Amino acid sequence: MEKRVVEVEKFSFEDSYEVTLRPSSFDEYIGQEKIKKNLQVFIKAAKKRGEVLDHVLFFGPPGLGKTTLANIISTEMGANMKTTAAPMIEKSGDLAAILTNLEEGDILFIDEIHRLSPAIEEILYPAMEDFRLDIIIGSGPAAQTIKLDLPKFTLIGATTRAGMISSPLRDRFGMHFRMQFYTRSELATIIKRASTKLNKPCLNDASAELSKRSRGTPRIALRLLKRVRDFADVEDMESIELGIAKFALDELGVDDRGFDEMDLKLINLLIESRGKPIGLGTIAATLSEDEGTIEDVIEPYLIANGYIEKTARGRVATPKCYDVFKLSPPSLEKGLFDE
Ligand code: ADE
Repeated sequence: MEKRVVEVEKFSFEDSYEVTLRPSSFDEYIGQEKIKKNLQVFIKAAKKRGEVLDHVLFFGPPGLGKTTLANIISTEMGANMKTTAAPMIEKSGDLAAILTNLEEGDILFIDEIHRLSPAIEEILYPAMEDFRLDIIIGSGPAAQTIKLDLPKFTLIGATTRAGMISSPLRDRFGMHFRMQFYTRSELATIIKRASTKLNKPCLNDASAELSKRSRGTPRIALRLLKRVRDFADVEDMESIELGIAKFALDELGVDDRGFDEMDLKLINLLIESRGKPIGLGTIAATLSEDEGTIEDVIEPYLIANGYIEKTARGRVATPKCYDVFKLSPPSLEKGLFDE
């Protein structure tokens, strides 16, 4: 499927500018206040004891800053961070190579950690608990286990799908942090700071407009900022003003209520069903999107903002959602929201 402007998955070319705009300390990092506060305590305590930080698990929708926080943790701990993603660890030898190459105090960041195979997870358990690698040589009754000591390290796992992590793996992380969507004012601050770094300052009303349309997600906000900056550059504007921001966002087809094309398709489907719950399978087929993407990427924002609800029988649009589209909710007619 064609990539959307408001796509939350990272485009490969974005790595470089995300890195340049990425905050490198807790002070620069806006939002996720509770997580930041807790992490600062745990980091301070670990450093005071001269120990490695306990393993950390971040979960939540894409684009909310999980990798950025992992980088900040490693800076604050004065540690090196090695980064990989679960789909790249296919064989047990792949993980063994990564683990044996770690140095004392290193941080190992595994993205999409819910995608590790059960066999690989088994290797991770003793590594996380006892910093030990169990290598099985041979098979059947002659099989032998060789135990190798590993340097003490911190595993930081990130996932969009907390529900898909096996409980033995989840239980081995000492800290679990659920990432929250950003408020408009947090996003506006992020946009203003980034625009200054990009040498095209964004005026207050323009950054407020951008933040309104960014789906609570810094990655989207920064992508939109870059496109709006293109429009301002072409018009030889010194700064990003509200007029050009609105024009550019309209040209890009970004909804002024913050919904993207997939949100609107999903909302439309639910509104048209007039309160009859729709199952995930039907939604996936209608939107030509896989169920995982709907659950991890599309729905969380709509649920967090009270536009849709998950019920035992499927998804329904809330009265607030009908209200946004100036339609009367079916609950008034039939009491369908009274489950
Ligand atoms: N850029 C991307 N995410 C950010 C955040 N949470 N704080 C500051 N700058 C950011």
